[in-house]
Amino acid sequence: MDAPWLIADPEPYEEYDLGPLKTGKEAEVFLVERLAADGRSCLLAHKRYRPRLVTHKGELQDLGFQRASSFVNDSAYRSERSIANSRDQRAAAKKTRHGRAVLNHEWPANEFDMLERMARAGVTVPLPVSRTTDGLLMQYIGDRTMAAPRLVQAGLSRAGLQQAATMLVDNLHRMVGAGVVHADLSVFNLLWWEDVLFVIDVPQAVDIGTNAQAFEFLHRDLENVGTWFRSKGVALDAEDVFRDLVAEATGST
Ligand SMILES: Nc1ncnc2c1ncn2[C@@H]1O[C@H](COP(=O)(O)OP(=O)(O)O)[C@@H](O)[C@H]1O
Ligand SMILES: [Mg+2]
Repeated sequence: MDAPWLIADPEPYEEYDLGPLKTGKEAEVFLVERLAADGRSCLLAHKRYRPRLVTHKGELQDLGFQRASSFVNDSAYRSERSIANSRDQRAAAKKTRHGRAVLNHEWPANEFDMLERMARAGVTVPLPVSRTTDGLLMQYIGDRTMAAPRLVQAGLSRAGLQQAATMLVDNLHRMVGAGVVHADLSVFNLLWWEDVLFVIDVPQAVDIGTNAQAFEFLHRDLENVGTWFRSKGVALDAEDVFRDLVAEATGST
């Protein structure tokens, strides 16, 4: 992957946490700076998935997360407590372990793999850099003064939005060409930076070859973004694009 900006192993570097960028429902994104001995530096985004189950109050803060309130709101935690001593306990415990594995391991792993696949196919995504204990490091989209805005907040003119819609459809063709469906596509998961549209947030992305619902997800993805673009006066015919993409994926014309 071509990443001339990246200060990477085996080059020695130090890493500094510059603080939180965004707090989401399942994950938090932090800004990290890598500094080489000769003074060169690069910025990275560290997406960390919150642990699903925590054992004591304050654990999330101790781990460096911003949103600690999920300790009390965490439904998995509550349900495990509430079924304690019932005969379903073992099964539920298994399910919980599974759920935790999915959240703590499979989601970031899938996000990393999908970013790699998409980047290789020429989709404009933040380039994946490495896995971390609870998430992944990737290219940071933005600069020292601001992170890239989400498309919905980018304040684009009609012409800019038209350009964004064209880039989006082009990216979707590349994704489908690589056998990938985003499955949570919305204008909140698209960034706009220096006239380029970036596709982000892909832990739930699916493989067309192995997921029977892939085309359903693709259809929903297109409806989501199509509705928004149309509300802004930009033509994006979700049904037309869907037909083209399915034809491409299935090799029919
Ligand atoms: N590589 C990145 N560069 C800059 N900002 C990012 C990057 N990745 C994520 N963000 C910011 O963090 C927010 C949350 O990231 P996202 O991957 O969408 O996670 P989630 O929505 O699941 O919390 C994004 O809306 C975006 O503003
Ligand atoms: Mg998101």
